[in-house]
Amino acid sequence: MAKPKDKLPMEKILVRGQHSNSQILVGESLGNLDRYLPDKNIFVLTDTNILKLYGSAWDKHPCLALEPGEESKTLAAAARVYHWLMEQKADRSSFILGVGGGVVCDLAGFVASTYMRGVGFGFAATTLLAQVDASVGGKNGVNLDGYKNIIGTFNQPQFVICDPAMVKTLPGDEIRNGMAEVVKHALIADKSMFEILEQDPTAIYKLEPELLNYLVSRSVHIKSGIVGKDERETGERRKLNLGHTWGHAVEKALRLPHGYAVAVGMVFAGEMSVHRGLLGDADLLRLKLLLEKLGLPVRPSGNTQTIYEILEKDKKREGSHIHFVLNKGIGDVVVQAIPLAEIKSFIS
Ligand SMILES: NC(=O)c1ccc[n+]([C@@H]2O[C@H](COP(=O)([O-])OP(=O)(O)OC[C@H]3O[C@@H](n4cnc5c(N)ncnc54)[C@H](O)[C@@H]3O)[C@@H](O)[C@H]2O)c1
Repeated sequence: MAKPKDKLPMEKILVRGQHSNSQILVGESLGNLDRYLPDKNIFVLTDTNILKLYGSAWDKHPCLALEPGEESKTLAAAARVYHWLMEQKADRSSFILGVGGGVVCDLAGFVASTYMRGVGFGFAATTLLAQVDASVGGKNGVNLDGYKNIIGTFNQPQFVICDPAMVKTLPGDEIRNGMAEVVKHALIADKSMFEILEQDPTAIYKLEPELLNYLVSRSVHIKSGIVGKDERETGERRKLNLGHTWGHAVEKALRLPHGYAVAVGMVFAGEMSVHRGLLGDADLLRLKLLLEKLGLPVRPSGNTQTIYEILEKDKKREGSHIHFVLNKGIGDVVVQAIPLAEIKSFIS
């Protein structure tokens, strides 16, 4: 059983939501979980991989472990959790702790927001992707009929523990998935962070807590700054979709892991930005080099026409246009409505 480290520097970052706030505890140890939990009525939701690795940290509380993976982010899985909570006699004073990656956090937040019209909840985010992205910002939800995150709520967890020691047990692919979102945050708002990544891209794979904490902290600051201005994604929050418009179509067409598809999507957005005169060729090259050194793809390995056909059906499409996040140099972005005809002629 992996033992999380006990003494690491810790930073508290406040995420301001419309109805409640969330504190993100970067560098906090899972071993200090009890400091953040209420005294009683705690119910833990996790997946079976995480239970095996870290279950001893919450073994005094009732726990339900789901199968790992996206298949557990469904209404059927939510119903299973509601039934379990009823059997356990969970009531409105209960508290749900989600310990896991984005799948567990999204499901735990959704169940907590809807069980008995809402109970308190918090997370221990166990993947790099969950620490830098999924656990931050208050979006919770499940998939339906192959449509991702189509059912859900906006509701902030009371706390999120981001323990760098937990990232050490992640498979390499999962770390690369998280790194794509880290690069995205640097591209959106932090040129210095991009330069630090460029200096020694593979340093991250040594998983040193200081570097992990720095990247998680910068990502959380950037994401929470944007969410604080636009929790419900009516404008500013769209910036966080950098690489995701083309990336989602790539993910669906080629069944690539999310972060890999986002990497391909960020390069596509970079190329569109060059095409529209917003980004220089040299900066696009820097982006491609960084992603390649991180072990992420920069080109789809399949037919771009199929990807385009999926893009045309994107839920974010508005008539004959689609909103794309484009790069204005490195560390700044702009959202533009691009005619689908322009994208079609660009890819051909
Ligand atoms: N709510 C949001 O704002 C938001 C943002 C981005 C992504 N997401 C969602 O996040 C989900 C993806 O999350 P993810 O990438 O964390 O995947 P995940 O939750 O499926 O976890 C990936 C795998 O890693 C394993 N794992 C988790 N922590 C581990 C650890 N510490 N050591 C060893 N193995 C571990 C899991 O068991 C699983 O097999 C998607 O459903 C996506 O839609 C949500």
